[in-house]
Formats: sequence, structure tokens, C-alpha cells
Amino acid sequence: MATAAVIPAAGAGARLGRGMPKALVCLNGEPLLVHAVRGTLASSVVDEVVVVAPEAHLDQVRALLSDHRRDSDSDRAVSVVAGGPDRVDSVRAGLAVLDPTIRFVLVHDAARCLAPGAVFRRVHQALAGGAQAVIPVLPLVDTVKFVEPVTAAPDGADDLESAIQGTVVGTPSRSGLRIVQTPQGFDRELLQRAHRDAAAAGISATDDAMLVERLGVPVATVAGDERSMKITSRKDLAIAELLLSSPS
Ligand code: C5P
Repeated sequence: MATAAVIPAAGAGARLGRGMPKALVCLNGEPLLVHAVRGTLASSVVDEVVVVAPEAHLDQVRALLSDHRRDSDSDRAVSVVAGGPDRVDSVRAGLAVLDPTIRFVLVHDAARCLAPGAVFRRVHQALAGGAQAVIPVLPLVDTVKFVEPVTAAPDGADDLESAIQGTVVGTPSRSGLRIVQTPQGFDRELLQRAHRDAAAAGISATDDAMLVERLGVPVATVAGDERSMKITSRKDLAIAELLLSSPS
């Protein structure tokens, strides 16, 4: 059954502070996006890749990807379309150009450019086995808390205002919490319906699974991988360099 990967890569990358879209920042001499596309194709479960790039960099991204494609990849289509202001808009733009034969979609952030092929295969296997939505996850090592941010300091408490950020209002049990990664896999029609529905309701989301959860469809989990970390800051870039140079 035909499977596509949609790779949102249209973020500005402001937190990385390199003055260019994050997907074009280099890791070991190659842009994050090139690593991400190469890893996606190398997983061997994807027949088509749609890269969603910043509108102002479309030609640059097309040229980059055609330069870096190996002969063995040439039977698989890689197309590039323009993204939108939010990640959900970018994913939606990618979904809009999928080939009609596509049955499964893996949505994979360019910023998680070192995700191992084994994770793609686990997600794909769960879809092929009948799951409609699948996400890779990792256990949490830190305790997390719900915090209500401080809005106004009490009279005469200027010092307090500068130090105290909020008040703890609850502590969820860590055993039931997971860190969520990509690629996230979906039945193609379900994901398109979830995006249409969310757009009609004016709802945004930080991942695609959230939109499917809204429809009451179960989302299955498989094991993620530390190498699927999202590169957001300079420190993440340094960690990714280390991961690239260490044996997997
Ligand atoms: O901003 P964040 O790190 O959460 O972005 C996750 C992924 O979504 C990145 O690969 C980024 O390029 C992409 N993105 C996008 N369009 C946007 C914002 C983010 O394709 N408008």
C-alpha cells in the first residue's frame, strides 16, 4: 500500500538564531532538511516525499534536494510546496498535493532530521497492521507540573514578582506521560478529515495526532528514539553533531 511522507520544513527557526529557516541550517556540512529527506527515503517504507518549504526559499530547496538525491532514490518522487504561517498550515499544504494512490501518510518534522529508519518502520508496521494513527513516544525522565503563571505581583512585592513565575496547581503521574516525536503515521483519509475539521473549527495544534484525537479516533504508540530529538536551539545542534559522529 502506497505511503507518503510529508515533511514540514517551513519554520523560521528564530530560536536557532541563524538568520535563515531552520531546515536550511547545516549539520555536519549539510542542511537539516537534506538529512531528513535522506533518512526518510532510507527507511524504505516511503514511496513519495512532499517537502513543505518556506515560500521565499522554494527554488533553493528544490535545487538542494535535486543535488543530494542518489540514483537509488530516483524512482521515488520528491516534491516541494510552499508552507503556511503555522505548522498545521504547512502540513495541510503538503497533504493537498499527495498522489491519489497514497493510503498512509507519515508526517515528519525536518527538525527531527536524525530519526532512525527503524522508527519509520515501526510506525509503518503498525499502520499496515490496522492502526489508523500511530505516534513514536519516549518515557519522561523529569517530573512535570501544571503551573498557573503569576499575572500580577501583590502590592509592594516587586522583588517577588521578578523571582516567582507561577504557582503549582497539580502534578500528573509521570508513569502515564510520554514525550511525543515524529514521524507520526496516519490513514491518509483520516488525517485529511482531521485537518479539514480542525480548520473549520479554527483549531491549531502542535502535532497532527492532536487533530485525530479530537475526532475520537484511537492513537497508537510505538517506541521512539533519542536520535529523533527535535533540533530547536544551538545546544540541540551540538548534540545532533555528537549523535551523528557516534555509532548508532
Ligand atoms: O517550530 P517547530 O520546531 O515546532 O517546528 C516543527 C517543524 O514544523 C519544523 O520542521 C518546522 O520547519 C516546521 N514548520 C513548518 N511551518 C511552520 C512552522 C513550522 O513547516 N509555519
